[in-house]
Amino acid sequence: MREISLFMLLTFPCLLSLPFLNAQSPPAAGISARSLDALLQHYAFRAFFRPRTGVPYDGQVPSNLTGIKVSALRLRSSSLRNRGVRSYKEFQIPIRVVEQPYVERLVLVYHNLGNWSEEFYPLPGYSYLAPVFGLLAYSAADLSATDLPELDIRASDKPILIKFSDMKPAPSGSIAKCVHFDLHGSVQFDKPSHGNVCSTSQQGHFSIVVESNSPAAGAGVEDGGKKNKSWVWIIVGCLVGGIVLLIILALLVARVRKSQRGTKIQQMKWAEDNDSETLEMTSIGGTKAPLAVGTRTQPIIEEDYIP
Ligand SMILES: *[C@@H]1O[C@H](CO)[C@@H](O)[C@H](O)[C@H]1NC(C)=O
Ligand SMILES: *[C@@H]1O[C@H](CO)[C@@H](O)[C@H](O)[C@H]1NC(C)=O
Repeated sequence: MREISLFMLLTFPCLLSLPFLNAQSPPAAGISARSLDALLQHYAFRAFFRPRTGVPYDGQVPSNLTGIKVSALRLRSSSLRNRGVRSYKEFQIPIRVVEQPYVERLVLVYHNLGNWSEEFYPLPGYSYLAPVFGLLAYSAADLSATDLPELDIRASDKPILIKFSDMKPAPSGSIAKCVHFDLHGSVQFDKPSHGNVCSTSQQGHFSIVVESNSPAAGAGVEDGGKKNKSWVWIIVGCLVGGIVLLIILALLVARVRKSQRGTKIQQMKWAEDNDSETLEMTSIGGTKAPLAVGTRTQPIIEEDYIP
């Protein structure tokens, strides 16, 4: 019994931190959405090899980000302003989109976060009907540059459109909403047009969501399973940690007991008669007898070691 309560004492704080750990856990990739933007800028730019302007090039992401697609499209800023881009993956860019600060050529980097969408853009209370798509603008002055800051692009006339052609149908009774994540972390919701077209005047990340009735049933069935699995691992970790601590403690107690035995040897000899008497007395109790034998000297020593 004493061992069990000690074990609980050791593992309890660890288990208490469980929900906290879960809430704080970064995406599975271990990086923030903004670090992902920087990483994808690098991998999108790497797709360029003597690039022609106005042609999208698909990039390769590292294997630890499999499932994410990136592309890069290099444009003269005058062409963007005067002609727009009729179609760049899901995006339709109208005329009069201007960048700030001005550059002669720019690169529009496209993201399709695929099955990583919820990982990098979790939206509690909502579930995604489509992947998160991103459109970000960079200067094309140096195509081998990394950690580039985004240019600010604005549509000054008509909005940029995002068409979600592979959208899952909204569950009956729920209303699909456009969601826009800007680069500063703010989230805006909007009504889609034609059921699956969202519009924006700026860059960022976009998707279509529905409100989920209960948070658990919504934002990600697949994701939930994964989180449960990590809970299990944390619990296992706590238990193993507790056991290891217990063993260390037991070894310490045993060691102390050994050294005390040396100094107490006279006392023990002196008390031998008394001891045998008490033993006989407890053994009358039947079931209690083994316990008494096993823990004869423990109470005194252990109490010294419980903080
Ligand atoms: C993925 O692997 C690359 C190396 O291939 C590494 O530079 C990068 O930091 C890793 N990214 C994540 C998110 O783990
Ligand atoms: C997405 O799918 C790929 C395999 O297609 C997998 O390697 C990756 O871990 C998945 N990502 C997430 C966040 O589940």
